[in-house]
Amino acid sequence: MSRLVVVSNRVLDLSKAARAGGVAVTLADVVRTHKALWFGWNGEIKPADEADVVRRKARVTTASLSDIEYAGYYLGYANSVLWPVFHNRLDLAQLEARFYERFVEVNRRLTSLLHPMLRPDDIIWVHDYHLIPFAAELRKRGIGNLIGFFLHIPFPPWQTFMAVPEHKELARALAAYDLVGLQTKADVGNFINYMTGALHGRIVPDGRIRLFDQLIAVASFPIGIDPTNFAKARRASDLVQAHSSVCRVVGVDRLDYTKGLPHKFKAFGQLLDKYPQYQRQVVLTQIAPPTRESVEAYSDIRHELESLAGSINGRLGELDWVPIHYIYRSMPRRKLGDIYRSSKICMVTPLRDGMNLIAKEYVAAQDAADPGVLILSQFAGAAEEMTEALIVNPYNIEETAEALRSALEMDLAERRARHGALLQGVYDHDAIGWSRLFLEHLKRTRVSASHEIV
Ligand code: F6P
Repeated sequence: MSRLVVVSNRVLDLSKAARAGGVAVTLADVVRTHKALWFGWNGEIKPADEADVVRRKARVTTASLSDIEYAGYYLGYANSVLWPVFHNRLDLAQLEARFYERFVEVNRRLTSLLHPMLRPDDIIWVHDYHLIPFAAELRKRGIGNLIGFFLHIPFPPWQTFMAVPEHKELARALAAYDLVGLQTKADVGNFINYMTGALHGRIVPDGRIRLFDQLIAVASFPIGIDPTNFAKARRASDLVQAHSSVCRVVGVDRLDYTKGLPHKFKAFGQLLDKYPQYQRQVVLTQIAPPTRESVEAYSDIRHELESLAGSINGRLGELDWVPIHYIYRSMPRRKLGDIYRSSKICMVTPLRDGMNLIAKEYVAAQDAADPGVLILSQFAGAAEEMTEALIVNPYNIEETAEALRSALEMDLAERRARHGALLQGVYDHDAIGWSRLFLEHLKRTRVSASHEIV
């Protein structure tokens, strides 16, 4: 059986419980259930001469970044160019900053560290926008193995993508993969439109795209979670407010401008203004772990949120009731499950999101006999599958406030019906199923390739 080599920017120590959820937790599940090696950045920033030291612990092998690399690759090209562009925020993208060379250099250095560990029949699975050039760099080193790529964030409309000065280089790098996996059908549409419309790639009979003398397979594989991790969540007494009748609306989002947090706070404030009967009856608990803090757009969103929460709490709060609990740090995952289960409503209302696994975790953590309600943005990848949620346009504050009211008033029968269907989907499309579908498709690309050559 071939070994699976998973490559991602963030990796987790498999022996430690993760504090936050997300991509790395799902990848940890994949690594645990395969004969696998997991390679990536260990999250540390070291002097340049120490960055190459490779650390091995069980199946996980990591290296550090130097401070110049961290600035140019992670904060720079990945999170100040690709992240805003792929989330339709061209206004925040630092397109002129010349981070691209550093971005490719880091990918090249990481491939040089992984290269000696590779075996001829390894299947290599690279994850996310930080590592787009990884396969091209491996190919330059003569690696002919199957290499798949999965993009965890959205793929933008082609006109937006073409604003990146290096879009053709990125497309050429993507063409070095045997399979490009995206979260949704809409992303696949955007990708194909770009490859065929902007670059004049041709779709061949088996559905792949011929471009730059390569054949690129592309398909959607909506990522899932391991729902059993949340099935044991309990309604925790310490999470119930002073008044037991107060009900909790929860939000868990990295503190990112893509997550629509100001819009969420405004919608919650509007609910309380328009329907004063809910004052003292409901609280919004927003857990917002900070990331990428040295990028200006992230400190801006933090200030905006702090002032918004302060003004809503100052205007509406009472001595014994604070409408918005804004918690600016991460939570242990076990505790998160209990928070989900103790919350009548979960608001997942990003302005743009690849998938959003919080939506799936919330559903998995509910008591099926008396479940809560999921309010989900139409711009989260999860909305393509989770159609039984209350789907909202997060830019429309009034509509979101009305969805909150509907959720608060929804009767048990409707809550159960919606939750039952959502939970079924979460189990049917879990993390392991996601990796199986991707890897099966990846292996098939070589079979169809040999057919074409014949
Ligand atoms: O979901 C996209 C993503 O960039 C993941 O790759 C990453 O694990 C997550 O967001 C958190 O971002 P960061 O690693 O920059 O803190």
